[in-house]
Amino acid sequence: MSAKKTDFLPEISNSNLKSDKLFKDITAVAIPVLQSEKLAIKKSELVKQLAAHTHINLEIELANWPDFTAKAGEIIEIPLSDGKLTRIYLVGVGAATDEDIRKASTAISRKIKASPAKLLSAIVEDKKQVENHVAALVLANYQFNLKSEKKLVKPEFVIYGDFAEQVSRGLIFAKATWRTRDLIHTPSNIKNPLWLANQAKSFVSSAKNSALSIKVKAGRELKEFGGLLAVGNSSPNPGPRFVEVSYAPKGSGNWPHVVLVGKGITFDTGGVSLKRPYDVMVGMKSDMAGAAAILSATVALAELKPKVRVTALLMCAENALSGTSQRPSDVIKHYGGTTVEVINTDAEGRLVLADGLAYADDKLDPDYLVDVATLTGAATLGLGRQFAAMYTRDNSLAKKLHTVGNQVGERVWHMPLLDDYEVALESDIADFNHTADKYDFSAGSVTAALFLEKFVADRKWVHFDIAGPARSEVDAGENIKGGTGFATRLLLGWLDTF
Ligand code: BES
Ligand code: MN
Ligand code: ZN
Repeated sequence: MSAKKTDFLPEISNSNLKSDKLFKDITAVAIPVLQSEKLAIKKSELVKQLAAHTHINLEIELANWPDFTAKAGEIIEIPLSDGKLTRIYLVGVGAATDEDIRKASTAISRKIKASPAKLLSAIVEDKKQVENHVAALVLANYQFNLKSEKKLVKPEFVIYGDFAEQVSRGLIFAKATWRTRDLIHTPSNIKNPLWLANQAKSFVSSAKNSALSIKVKAGRELKEFGGLLAVGNSSPNPGPRFVEVSYAPKGSGNWPHVVLVGKGITFDTGGVSLKRPYDVMVGMKSDMAGAAAILSATVALAELKPKVRVTALLMCAENALSGTSQRPSDVIKHYGGTTVEVINTDAEGRLVLADGLAYADDKLDPDYLVDVATLTGAATLGLGRQFAAMYTRDNSLAKKLHTVGNQVGERVWHMPLLDDYEVALESDIADFNHTADKYDFSAGSVTAALFLEKFVADRKWVHFDIAGPARSEVDAGENIKGGTGFATRLLLGWLDTF
């Protein structure tokens, strides 16, 4: 494990050279083809330079491929025989919508995945789309493994055009998402709550930015956090952690304050209510994806520099099966005093989040309170893996987040907080039961959200259930099988609007 994981991150730079030097060290060039231009190749400055450099007429080449329709992501590969430059790719970009650009970018990135290619990409001409282009190129090349023999082969990208600022912003989004993925992919024998807290510390210290700070609570400092303790004490070594990371630049005292709360279950066995069938347990190292996303996004704010204060609360615990696991029928006391009857110990996420939400309301005076969690299998049943379930009473905020999600390629669907189902939370012995098991309403993602709402007082609150999109089951688009980093770009995109 000598090479650091981020060593796989591709290099990315910007060039607007008008001379032949533009092609120095370049092994491949990507040229866009729009559907709307009847598949003609635009005589851009670059295309002229390329023709002069290679003596290839792209119009004639294109005519050799009558089946090519320029649908986003379709690619024609033109091999060249001399010099370093060995490929020209004609890349279909459809109608060049944001979605089309994303598809085209991931397709070309996958063509040269884990190869030493140096690609000059001219497929984006609109400044506004460069950030997405950069993020898609980088993320489609994500690699992670702990193989003893590291083969560190990765491509390099050069973005053509006057886009220096957009390229570096795109890279901020990509790097943050990459970080989230690294945390998710790390196996749980390495990734315990202490490890996660230490990762957060090292992210903060390596950012070398006075706007960022971190506090970690453990042991007796957690005595009021009944939910975090009830879950996390199932794994006494090293026990749960509460991590508070803040982005508060000098002079930010009057800026709006956003508090993010993330589910950081480093492995979810289900506890005494053991997960069944057992093979569904294999993906449960991802159960800290919410905490990972809020952490990476918050640290990246030091580079993005929006005018908003942000506090990220990572609720870190392992849900293990042991002699110190909590029992179905236990009654626990959350931060702030609310008592809860534990029904099914596999519904652990809402227990750790409840403490974080109550703490945020009590101590941090948030203008916006947002939680992110791989919370329910029901969310995946309802929406599949392409959308997160979003719950909030604030319709205009929902609209805004929906729009941002579409822009960055992390889509969310506004779900209803159905008041009729609230009675499902009744308990004979405590303030609430935690799995909403009364009256058999089903709607597991909705009732989980209703439970969380009990802890947010009158704050402006949004809950993202990312159980579906946090993991991909296939290698496709920007994702590889495993953690996607979902919510990192959504949060960054939203926080950037302040
Ligand atoms: N971490 C799981 C939810 C989950 C399931 C995430 C599949 C990703 C993929 C969560 O802790 C859980 O087990 N939820 C239960 C709740 C139920 C017992 C009320 C569920 O959804 O089955
Ligand atoms: Mn669970
Ligand atoms: Zn869980």
